[in-house]
Formats: sequence, C-alpha cells, structure tokens
Amino acid sequence: MERQLVLEFVRVTEAGAIASARMMGRNDAMGADRAAVEAMRRAMDEVPMVGTIVIGEGERDEAPMLYIGERVGAGWIVSGPDGIRNPSLEVNGAPLLAAVDIAVDPLEGTNLVARGQDGAISVLAVAEPGGLLNAPDIYMEKLCVGPGAAGKVRMEYPVAANLRIIADSLGRDIEDLTVVILDRERHEALIENVRSTGARIRLIADGDLSAAISCAVSGTGDHCVMGSGGAPEGVLTAAALRCLGGQILARFIPRNDSERLRCLQMGIDPDRIYDTADLASGSSIIFAATGATDGSLLKGVRFFGGGARTHSLVMGLQSSTIRFVDTVHMFDSKAFGRVRL
Ligand code: FBP
Repeated sequence: MERQLVLEFVRVTEAGAIASARMMGRNDAMGADRAAVEAMRRAMDEVPMVGTIVIGEGERDEAPMLYIGERVGAGWIVSGPDGIRNPSLEVNGAPLLAAVDIAVDPLEGTNLVARGQDGAISVLAVAEPGGLLNAPDIYMEKLCVGPGAAGKVRMEYPVAANLRIIADSLGRDIEDLTVVILDRERHEALIENVRSTGARIRLIADGDLSAAISCAVSGTGDHCVMGSGGAPEGVLTAAALRCLGGQILARFIPRNDSERLRCLQMGIDPDRIYDTADLASGSSIIFAATGATDGSLLKGVRFFGGGARTHSLVMGLQSSTIRFVDTVHMFDSKAFGRVRL
C-alpha cells in the first residue's frame, strides 16, 4: 500500500497546512485548527482507501470531524437514509488500494499559528488496521532519541545517565547536547535536573512531536526530547521514529480516576513503559507532515500571488524512504510564471 499511497497522503497534510497557515497571527487557535481539519477531511476523501481515524480530534460528540472512529477515504460508499458509509471494493472503477488506520493531528501547534510563531505542522500517520495504538487523549511522559541512542536509553535511568548515553552515541560531550522540553511549570524539576548535567536546553512553547522528529535527523541541532506532552502526539511520534530508526519511550499519566478508567477501558496499562513499536506496531507505516509555520525541519507555507509553496516530510517504513517534498500549488492561472527556485 505504501508505494501507491505515499504521495496521496502528503497532499492531505499539504491541504491542512495551507488552510491553517491562512490563519497565521489571527489569535484564533480554534479557527486555525478547524481550517486544517476541514481541509484534511476533504483531501482524505479523495484518497482511494477505506480509512478509519484511530487518533483524531477527540470523540464524535465534541469533534464534528476527524473524530475517533470516523470513516474517511473514497473507498467508503454512502448508503442508506442516514448516509451510513459502507466499504466498497473499487473507487471510480479502479481497485481499492487499502484498508488503513489513521492517526491525525491536523494542526500540531494551534497556538503557534495563532501567534505567528515557528514550529507548527499538519501531520498524519497511516498503518494497516491495528498498526497504531488507540491512545486516550491524556498526558504521556516521553523520552525521544535519534537512531544512535535508540535501544540504549531507559526511562528508569536518571536523566544524567540517559544524557551520557546520548552524548556517547553522538560522539560528543553532554555540554554539546540540546535537550528539547516543553516550557511548562510541571517541568521545573526536570529542567533543573538537565541544567545540572551541563546540557543545553531548548524550551519550546508547543510542539513536542516536531521536536522529536528533529532529534532523529542530524543537522537540526536537537538531540533529545524529555518531559510530558499529549499521548496522541506520542503515537504520531512513534510512527515517525519507526521510519527514522529513532526511539520513543513513554508512560501514560492519568491525572484522575476518570482518566485511569479511560486507560483501562482502552486496554492501556498506566504502569507500563511503552516502546516505539508498542505505540506504532504496524509493519507498513506512512508518516507525512507539512510545515504550517517555519521550523527547524520544515519551512512553513509561503503564499504568493495565485499560489503557495509547501515543504513536507513523507516517509514509508516498508519502502525505507524519507522524502522532503517541495510543492508549488497553483490556485489560479496568475500563478504561472511566478515559480522561482
Ligand atoms: P496542539 O496544538 O495539537 O493542541 O498540541 C500542542 C502541544 O504542545 C503538543 O505538541 C504537546 O504534546 C501538547 O500540546 C502539550 O500539552 P499542554 O499544552 O497541555 O502542555
């Protein structure tokens, strides 16, 4: 499925990034998110697949679109008075490409777009059915590293020990590492702990998913992500790191009885440490992300008269491919002749 669908999915994240980038700096985080959701929903329905959202904008009641369990893709035919979607075996006369599960974060960094700050992306991961953990939308403690330190770090180790391992794997001193941490009060002790080792710290306002991808790509200047963030972002991180050979170690953090119950209902063990392949177990995984605003890995959307240019990352696990895609989108004929290198 990967070969046929890789470029189909990058169109979906491109659509989300373009729609949300239009809302940059408007101080309307919800509006930016909604724009990305609607654009991605429309783009997904063009893809010849029978897709099911397993990680999305939340439950059906609170999210009108891209909710968990929603059926997306051109492979569903709408039937019956209630518009029930049933799987079809072909799309426009051609055989259907695949039945897939999809994890989506239409806009990772809604506040970043609202304030016109760097680091927002539109992102999704796709796998064969059952290949992405159906995670509750609660917090998760995360430790993310690139390929060199993958398989060597452990969540039970002290921070200093993990940083030593990461530094050794990169052939550098701890002082030459950059640890990315979400700038939150809950991370005060962690930040002090990392400072005491001598490592450098990059505090980010939002977006631990794109930071984790950066850690697995050399030249970005990021080496490790520590601290807690959203569990859905953790599953998407795992999908990306499977494709890049990195590692995420994670523990769900239910904050009250109802979150604990939700975990148990979904088969999640809050005492367990989840590894990359526990979160994204698929043998066939596609990961796609498009920059909405500029970031260390991807440029944001650049608009010009009659068009826009996007920068995306799209990876296939089975095909072992990592593509950076630079796309010029012509919205109208005025755009022709304005394409520059
Ligand atoms: P969204 O923009 O998708 O809502 O998430 C941004 C984000 O910063 C994630 O990258 C991170 O995992 C999570 O929010 C952290 O949550 P919180 O802001 O509650 O600390």
